[in-house]
Amino acid sequence: MRVACVGGGAREHVIAETLYKSGAEIYAVMKNRNPGIMNLASDYTILKETDVDKVVSWCRDKRVELAVIGPEAPLAAGIVDALEKEGIPAVGPTKSAAEIETSKAFMRLLMEKYGIDGNLEYRVFTDIGEIRSFLKDYDKEYAVKPAGLTGGKGVKVFGEHLRNNAEALRYCEEIIEKGIGGGVVVIEEKAVGEEYTLQAFVDGKRVIPMPLVQDHKRAYEGDAGPNTGGMGSYSQEDGLLPFISIDDYKKSVKIVERIVGALRDEGRTYKGIIYGQFMLTADGPKIIEVNCRFGDPEAMNVLPLLRNNFLKVCEEIVDENL
Ligand code: AMP
Ligand code: GLY
Repeated sequence: MRVACVGGGAREHVIAETLYKSGAEIYAVMKNRNPGIMNLASDYTILKETDVDKVVSWCRDKRVELAVIGPEAPLAAGIVDALEKEGIPAVGPTKSAAEIETSKAFMRLLMEKYGIDGNLEYRVFTDIGEIRSFLKDYDKEYAVKPAGLTGGKGVKVFGEHLRNNAEALRYCEEIIEKGIGGGVVVIEEKAVGEEYTLQAFVDGKRVIPMPLVQDHKRAYEGDAGPNTGGMGSYSQEDGLLPFISIDDYKKSVKIVERIVGALRDEGRTYKGIIYGQFMLTADGPKIIEVNCRFGDPEAMNVLPLLRNNFLKVCEEIVDENL
């Protein structure tokens, strides 16, 4: 089968490698030259992955039969909707289902509306005056984030990146004025605990969870630096993590299942890979964010462990038959 693999990072290298081992012919679309992917590909093109029209037209010319989308940016740009219009099924959510990642405000609101466990106290703002009066009376520590995409680098946490309300307000002002992540600010209670990632295959209805992974976000020695998109990750032989019990794992799976169910009920049926970023707090697992794709680097921890044929799994995702 001729399969387009969109994206040029380490994540897409392991996606392409696993597809290749499953018998797929790889047609790679990437904005940069990734020699690992180039070695596996029957053909490749260097294109901006968010240039949806060009990507779709290349896939059509190459008679691609299935596409697997690695990064969030083309998903946010509606690449799956455009490929499907062209009759090319794709592993990845449509633009509206991808909002679970591309709008942190939508994600929190959805969890609240459906009463899903693991949500945090949150408020959404576009007005600095409202933020000022909110923070004056807010007695908990909090995190400030732009609602939209920032490559994992937009969050500032009280006590870590922010020392006081004045600093937080300055950052909120910057988000609004510069339109960072859409210029919408989400302020949420600070969760305290150990973070972990639960990725799952989703066919619209069924959620098949993968082993847990923990990635390392902080730059610099002693974790003193800013958050990055993730600089390395590990997993454990039994699929759990040193601080996670099977009960916490099951609770986390349930939360992801309920999010997928809520998206379906909202008419935003989710097909592809979902990524739950959790924190295990004293009060149980809490959702920090939800991503609409494999993690980079977390894909490298799970795909090499897959015993099933990955190409077949991808076909089952698009056929809603996992
Ligand atoms: P995000 O991009 O939302 O995953 O945030 C990046 C990182 O910021 C997370 O992995 C956490 O380490 C931290 N973070 C985000 N939101 C919170 C929160 N509500 N409480 C504590 N830490 C957070
Ligand atoms: N490693 C974090 C992410 O892929 O979002």
